[in-house]
Amino acid sequence: MSSGQRDTTRARVTLATLAEQKAAGEPVVMVTAYDAPSARIADEAGVDIVLVGDSAANVVLGYDSTVPVTVEEMLVLTRAVRRGLRHPLLVADLPFGSYEASDTDAVRTAQRFVKEGGADAVKIERGGTTVDRARAIVAAGIPVIGHIGLTPQAATSLGGYRVQGRTADQAEQLLRDALELQNAGCFAIVIEAVPAAVTDLLAPLLHCLTIGIGAGAATDGQVLVWHDLLGITHGHVAKFVRPFADLHTETVRGLTAYTAAVRSHEFPTAEHTYAIDQNELGDLRARLARSPAAEDSTP
Ligand code: KIV
Repeated sequence: MSSGQRDTTRARVTLATLAEQKAAGEPVVMVTAYDAPSARIADEAGVDIVLVGDSAANVVLGYDSTVPVTVEEMLVLTRAVRRGLRHPLLVADLPFGSYEASDTDAVRTAQRFVKEGGADAVKIERGGTTVDRARAIVAAGIPVIGHIGLTPQAATSLGGYRVQGRTADQAEQLLRDALELQNAGCFAIVIEAVPAAVTDLLAPLLHCLTIGIGAGAATDGQVLVWHDLLGITHGHVAKFVRPFADLHTETVRGLTAYTAAVRSHEFPTAEHTYAIDQNELGDLRARLARSPAAEDSTP
């Protein structure tokens, strides 16, 4: 199939097909995306889940953390991804401050992402009171992914962007959070920045889907941020990232070549321009010669 063509024979990813993948031991692939062209590419590459992560705050919108990104900003990005996506499941992150205070807030915000954003499911961070929010959203008919370990919305209270679950107490708390989120009805849980040996012990105790990022290989699937995996990230890159391409270098190369071509008058050439009928052109020249602008421009 040529690029640009969409495969209409492929089945859409659903919660049921993801559960089948888990049962069959087939790894689930999740990636973030924030716009329609990236969604199309993720679809063409055959990923299972596309997450409109609130990492958009950092990698797209230029904020220092995920905390400032708003529901309205995330909705714009979610709608764009929806327009580019056909087969993968579309999950949207509920941003910080939009779901924590009450079940009513949580359900209303989740409904906006489904109704206005076109999301199939939402993701929320942490255990504790988030467990009740997850239960309320699931009860409202919206599938939920939980997120434990390093939860960037709570980075300040976690002491920064640090590996989580490095003591037996912390690891046991992670398991409690995961089990509570699972019992609240989450169909999947993202486990971020947790020692692989801890994940090895926790993941088999969960029957919902587990998706790791910096949590080793024992989870049912993996997720990475678009910009990290394609080598576009500016500044610090986490230890768990493997860049599978170097789009930063390739993009700089392309833009440098464009800049040089414009400055040297080498671009555009005739092949990049539109033609006009010669009679029309002659007519235009005659009109311009008679126009006041032509007189004004005579010295
Ligand atoms: O916001 C995000 O991109 C995420 C993933 C890293 C899981 O939450």
